[in-house]
Amino acid sequence: MKKYQNARGTVDLLPNEIGKWQTIRKLIDDMCFVYGYKEIQTPMFEDTGVFKREHDTSDMVTKEMYTFSKNGVDSLTLRPEGTAGVVRSFVQHKMYGNQELPAKLYYVGPMFRYERPQKGRQRQFHQFGVENIGVKSPLVDAETIALGYSVVKALGLSHVKVLINTLGDEASRKNYDVALREHFKEEQHNLCSDCKRRYEVNPLRILDCKVDHEKESIKHAPKMDDYLTEESKQYFNEVKQALDALDIPYEVEPSLVRGLDYYTHTVFEVVSTHPESGAQATIFGGGRYDGMVEYFGGPSLSGVGFAIGMERLLILAEAEQVDLNKHVEADVYVMSLGEVGNVPLVVTSQLRANGYYTEYNIEPRSLKAQFKSVDRFKAKVVVIVGQDELKEHKVSVKDIASQKQVQCDIDELIHYVDHFFEECHEGCQCGKE
Ligand code: HAM
Repeated sequence: MKKYQNARGTVDLLPNEIGKWQTIRKLIDDMCFVYGYKEIQTPMFEDTGVFKREHDTSDMVTKEMYTFSKNGVDSLTLRPEGTAGVVRSFVQHKMYGNQELPAKLYYVGPMFRYERPQKGRQRQFHQFGVENIGVKSPLVDAETIALGYSVVKALGLSHVKVLINTLGDEASRKNYDVALREHFKEEQHNLCSDCKRRYEVNPLRILDCKVDHEKESIKHAPKMDDYLTEESKQYFNEVKQALDALDIPYEVEPSLVRGLDYYTHTVFEVVSTHPESGAQATIFGGGRYDGMVEYFGGPSLSGVGFAIGMERLLILAEAEQVDLNKHVEADVYVMSLGEVGNVPLVVTSQLRANGYYTEYNIEPRSLKAQFKSVDRFKAKVVVIVGQDELKEHKVSVKDIASQKQVQCDIDELIHYVDHFFEECHEGCQCGKE
């Protein structure tokens, strides 16, 4: 019989790992709340055209997409990233209509890219991403970087570096395109086959080549900075001033062009500087995009966003020994002594209905074994349902920390448990000191 395992480049997230994901998720939700972002969930697959836009030469679009068809007519693709689907949805649902702009949207979920798997690089991985659509301002670019940076910092990660660059406006891009074509004119024949194609369609992509990146001609390629229009320079200066004002440390990295084709103006990445984070050091990346809302048939609105690779965040957390595990401990453990029928379950159910995480003893077991369970669940309060006490409709409640124990009527149990979790008032009869 064939023994199945998870497919190459995917991972099972097991229960003992999930606490870390929940910690990050909670932090993301809290942080997005204070920044005024609302969650959006778009489908995991879209019409291929949503991702594969005209003249797109990025590796993600040309090589890494999981594309399929069910009837030989429709071409569908598993989402390799979140931005395109969110912008498609923004336009489809006319979110630019009568609401305050920018629209501030965030998403968390799996993405799919056919890449060679290695540490920090999977075929199914998870992103937390944000898209801020509708207002083009250097302030929003800086605010967006600040949001991503705050998440990383709030997780307790310190070995990170913010890199920023600008790709300028359309006119700057055209100037730069001409300069790159001129620069690589002779050299293109010595570049890889992908770069030969990139030379024809979008020479900027040559700078991002994983095969040729060590070549001298790439190292000495013209720098974008020299081809920026005055407006683009001014825009970038204002982004930097806002980052300074927000106290966000950054480095301008002139060779940062990003791996995707849709960026204009500000681009940024946050990279890990920890020696153990491995080759895949980019934790998150993003930037401004000008033409995408129009591509999907919407008005001429600009957007800016980023996506954080959740797996890479976890790798860095481990390297920096930041414990993200949520240690879930039981509030109450309900023990049973003798023939008590279903009372432990009923009591448990009442405690749960009152918000207490409660575990109970299911089958007859020795007291010693039950106390082991109390330890294992790290329960703070124990309720003992005993055969004799039950005849008088009573149970015992014990506070583990103080070892104080009281007997009470079952109907008053919640009151007593509440007491053990609260400060007692003066003269209280509950037994807790
Ligand atoms: P990206 O740079 O392609 O940008 O991906 C963002 C992050 O996702 C990367 O920095 C990395 O942490 C993570 N990532 C990418 N591929 C993999 C993989 N195969 N395995 C594990 N992690 C991976 C985007 O996706 C853009 N949509 C970001 C954006 C949003 N730009 C504007 N808005």
